[in-house]
Amino acid sequence: MSEQQIERRKRALSCIQPTGTPTLGNYLGALRNWVAMQEEMDCCFAVADLHAITVRQEPAKLRQQTKEMFALLLAIGLDPEKNVIFVQSQVPQHTELAWLLACNTQFGELSRMTQFKDKSQKHADNINLGLFAYPTLMAADILLYQPDYVPVGADQKQHCELSRDIAGRFNNLYGNTFVVPEPYIMKAGARVRSLQDPTKKMSKSDENQNSFISLKDDKDTILRKFKRAVTDSEAVVRYADGKDGINNLMEIYAAVTGKSYEEIEREFDGRGYGDFKVAVGEAVAAELVPVQERFDALLKDKAYLEEMMKKGAETASRIGARTLAKAKKKMGFLL
Ligand code: TYM
Repeated sequence: MSEQQIERRKRALSCIQPTGTPTLGNYLGALRNWVAMQEEMDCCFAVADLHAITVRQEPAKLRQQTKEMFALLLAIGLDPEKNVIFVQSQVPQHTELAWLLACNTQFGELSRMTQFKDKSQKHADNINLGLFAYPTLMAADILLYQPDYVPVGADQKQHCELSRDIAGRFNNLYGNTFVVPEPYIMKAGARVRSLQDPTKKMSKSDENQNSFISLKDDKDTILRKFKRAVTDSEAVVRYADGKDGINNLMEIYAAVTGKSYEEIEREFDGRGYGDFKVAVGEAVAAELVPVQERFDALLKDKAYLEEMMKKGAETASRIGARTLAKAKKKMGFLL
């Protein structure tokens, strides 16, 4: 390994779709880890608005939600001076590389993606080509920035692995072009489940509002939703098979407080679920309320948000253009 390689800071990239307000699942599974990573790595974070249109979106709402998601990335503590933070559709290299990668991705590979299967069932009237090709756009999002790590929740692992396969195959065919990235999945918070059906992942598109904590929920709502969370009849706070509801609450509490399961079991030894649910709600509210306050202030500062978006898109485009030119040249395109 050359000295330059040893000294190079690790890079990370991740994105989030601007479809509705993120949940506690997005926050613990992804966003919060991004904040920690910015200290150690060179990071790019994007609002993946192009991904959002794989299901039908109302234009005015998409526009508003994209702005809000960008503001939220700043509100959680991502520093636009330290990271490249941008909106995907403002960086045209993503769609261009996606086409090059689409021609190097097999129908069979895309057919195996569980998210495609789920979403095509859910939106049976709109199984569009974009929904099917989505992982090739995601691969382009990643590979453009040559990251070492892709911090995501467990549900995106399969897409990240496909990106690795695509990168590896491209490198073999055309010569070394892309860094083959690794998914970076934190254990605590990687799979936050529904509060009403803890066998399912917590999702903002769930019809039952009590099943998820939205990052915009106020303290009372957070406490109420945890109070109503589905548990079991054993009334002992312990992490064990068959206790999906309690396991989920313990995972959330562990992720927010940094406590281990043993510590949590000791803390609630001899106490009922009622106390435990209040403690989880309080801990989550203490984490989210300051984020909400920063978010509200940022949303009012339109000029600042626009300036940060422009700056982020320019930097991302500069980095992306370099990788794209490299890929095109290797494939035989005239530059
Ligand atoms: P999205 O927008 O659905 O979710 C954003 C991030 O949140 C994580 N996440 C969860 N983590 C734990 N528990 C949950 N219940 C939960 N729900 C969501 C997701 O794993 C994700 O990390 N395809 C991506 C967006 C994307 C992307 C990319 C990600 C587009 N291009 C490039 C990484 C790299 C998506 O739809 O995530």
